[in-house]
Amino acid sequence: MVKIFSGSAHPQLSLRVTKLLRLPLSIAHITHFDNSEVKVTIKEEVKNQVCFIIQPTCNPTDTHLMELFFFCDALRRQEAKKVIGIIPYFGYARQDIQHQPGECVSVNVIIRFLETIGFDKIYTVDLHDEATEGVFSIPFKNLTALPLLADAVKKYLFDKKLVKPGNLIESIAITSPDQGGIERTRKFSLHFFKHEKGSFSLSLMKKKRTLAIAHQSETLDLYGEVKNKIVIIVDDIITSGTTLINAANLCLKKGAKKVIAAVVHHDLSPKAPSLIQNSPIELIFTTDSIPFKNNDQLIKFKEISLSTILAEEIKHVK
Ligand code: R5P
Repeated sequence: MVKIFSGSAHPQLSLRVTKLLRLPLSIAHITHFDNSEVKVTIKEEVKNQVCFIIQPTCNPTDTHLMELFFFCDALRRQEAKKVIGIIPYFGYARQDIQHQPGECVSVNVIIRFLETIGFDKIYTVDLHDEATEGVFSIPFKNLTALPLLADAVKKYLFDKKLVKPGNLIESIAITSPDQGGIERTRKFSLHFFKHEKGSFSLSLMKKKRTLAIAHQSETLDLYGEVKNKIVIIVDDIITSGTTLINAANLCLKKGAKKVIAAVVHHDLSPKAPSLIQNSPIELIFTTDSIPFKNNDQLIKFKEISLSTILAEEIKHVK
């Protein structure tokens, strides 16, 4: 039998997974001290057991990371057979190169920590850049929620009678809001159009980041045809909302009928919910890799659970 533990980042997601697996959530105490230190205490027998810890390393990123590290240490000390981390949202993944001279490469440091502390394997979902996989020297699997999101968007469009099966390629433009997202957009599109006849083309936007100012970017141009089409913008993460909102505005300026988005992780900054609410984006399909902070944020979001794909992976681990 496997044991599944939950960090404090997203117990609801952990419970969704254990419910599908018909397993109890294993017991641990997480203490948050007033000086911001954390402590993890395992409260059940784990000797020779395969143990999973589900913990997205979302905001507060560093606290959630420390919990994850301490879970692994505590389980190792109790002689667990294997310790496997499920990190549905991998914080720091965007800091994967030196964007400017003098910068740290934070994701590299996090990976070194995960390996050194003693994880046997790490799972994540739609890592910012697939190339980061090569930095791991322990087994690592990057799962994808893009098919789940593509199915959900398609169902919404059919239910609302906005498109008909058979004419998706003519009515829909799937677009990446930046150069780095083109492969992700292609994968989403392959699934989205899989029952359609004919070949599809993608559109792409040129985005420029203002490196000196956090969360600032400009959408400079759009390559591809969006006129009179429903546009689906595909991205991995939304934080300030700037990328998505600028992209949506440009699509509408170029004649798009409406804009919907499919974004795997909503790692929202404080101002993002109201910016999104007041933006022309109709709806953002996302996952429960990160919990929403309050119900207001749900107004323009439609959340699809990752629990099915996480449970499926756990089932196959011995
Ligand atoms: C960038 O490369 C990512 O894929 C996202 O487009 C970006 O991080 C989104 O951030 P924001 O919502 O702050 O523009």
